[in-house]
Amino acid sequence: TVLVVDFGAQYAQLIARRVRDARIYSEVVPHTLSAEEILSRRPAALILSGGPSSVYEDGAPRLDPALLEAGVPVLGLCYGFQSIAAALDGTVAKTGAREYGSTRLQEISGECTLFAGQDADQVVWMSHGDAVTEAPEGFAVTASTAGAPVAAFEDTDRRIFGVQWHPEVGHSDRGQQVLENFLYQGAGLTPTWTTTNVIDEQVALIREQIGEHRAICGLSGGVDSAVAAALVQRAIGDQLTCVYVNHGLMRQNESDEIEKAFGKATGGAKLVMVDAEDVFLDALAGVTDPETKRKIIGEKFIRTFEQAQADIVLASQNDPNATDVKFLVQGTLYPDVVESGGGEGTANIKSHHNVGGLPDDIEFELCEPLRALFKDEVRAVGSELGLPDEIVMRQPFPGPGLGIRIIGEVTKERLDLLREADAIVREELTVAGLDREIWQCPVVLLADVRSVGVQGDGRTYGHPVVLRPVTSEDAMTADWAKVPYDVLSRISNRITNEVDGINRVVLDVTSKPPGTIEWE
Ligand code: XMP
Repeated sequence: TVLVVDFGAQYAQLIARRVRDARIYSEVVPHTLSAEEILSRRPAALILSGGPSSVYEDGAPRLDPALLEAGVPVLGLCYGFQSIAAALDGTVAKTGAREYGSTRLQEISGECTLFAGQDADQVVWMSHGDAVTEAPEGFAVTASTAGAPVAAFEDTDRRIFGVQWHPEVGHSDRGQQVLENFLYQGAGLTPTWTTTNVIDEQVALIREQIGEHRAICGLSGGVDSAVAAALVQRAIGDQLTCVYVNHGLMRQNESDEIEKAFGKATGGAKLVMVDAEDVFLDALAGVTDPETKRKIIGEKFIRTFEQAQADIVLASQNDPNATDVKFLVQGTLYPDVVESGGGEGTANIKSHHNVGGLPDDIEFELCEPLRALFKDEVRAVGSELGLPDEIVMRQPFPGPGLGIRIIGEVTKERLDLLREADAIVREELTVAGLDREIWQCPVVLLADVRSVGVQGDGRTYGHPVVLRPVTSEDAMTADWAKVPYDVLSRISNRITNEVDGINRVVLDVTSKPPGTIEWE
């Protein structure tokens, strides 16, 4: 394992991600772990991340020199680079010359590990105020830029390396190559971490954890729960039951498609489809407040899931071989684990994760086979397990479904109207080849708004729908997607012609922040 020591960078996870792209397993650890604790995990190499602070700031995280003396190969990035210099008596100075953003390398030394086979003609992504002005003893300076006389150094004897910039971000031209040079040449590691290995390893771990017991998994229709279920199904077969709750707030044909695709891909995992449309719609009758809607949907979801669970137990009560349903499979991903402060053991689970809010007090042990993976790795695992693209490449869809895309009261008629419009939007975006480019495109029905239109020779008085196409990396921030005019115009024409009751299509051009992606 390559451990990324997080000095408070927004990039620490990204570094781990890039190391894994180099087919070497990597995890993030906080800088608050002691050197002893870090080394006790026997890292094959350490990468010290960037951080927000200056090494001179009060309370700036300090690098324990013990990490540099253990014989473990080390790469320091940005703040990590400066803290190596500071720890080994190099000079870090406030040069006053801030470098931020794209910078050109000026020089690269011919003989070095990190830039083997590269020339200086490359752009690197910088973000620093202080600069290393003198490398520690024993280090060769291997690159420089206008604002950083010592932009990279290395000591190949001690296997300690560093660069002032951020090779992990996409804006650095040869960043990945720099990281790989460190991993393969500098640290002498072999790339062996592959999707197949991940699956084999997880299957073994799941078998060990669950043993003879049974497990259930709530399927939401999203990627994570589907891949987690498929993985557990491969490990324990029929001991797993998946539960899919149709709350009536899904999009057109969605429940059928999920049932078919999932069943086919897992070679027939046990799947219980619960049709709870009436329960949800009854509970939502008369409700217009967004938070109240969310709470009702979440709570009904839990009750329905618990009922399904009770039914599973009941159905096998006469089977003497039936074991207890002890485990709940969750599709928790690595970013959730890191964000909730974990990394080891059972970190607290975000309650909204996956299936729209399972209760915290539910009496299960958790099985979380995706805890170590990033989203795109989950997709790769899903594909290798045979899940079709329509599941694996699915865009995000909120747990409360169309219930939070109808502004106003949620009724069956309004849902049907929205489903029709939404199906057209999805179809046209797919035909235009925009599914990968667009993060997701909520279609929102302004159910309490009506406007006057004219169609044929008659006056109409219908509802508007809002298109909310966005681009995003992680849904934390988003921008409105610049969907080509011809595609928008086709969507608009089709909706107003084909969906009786909708006579206007409007486009949401708000970024996030300040707007959220969903309207409620
Ligand atoms: P917002 O609207 O907060 O959405 O910008 C960010 C992302 O989260 C999705 N979303 C949800 N997903 N349960 C979910 O599983 C929810 O309650 C929920 N609310 C929003 C939204 O579609 C977007 O991708």
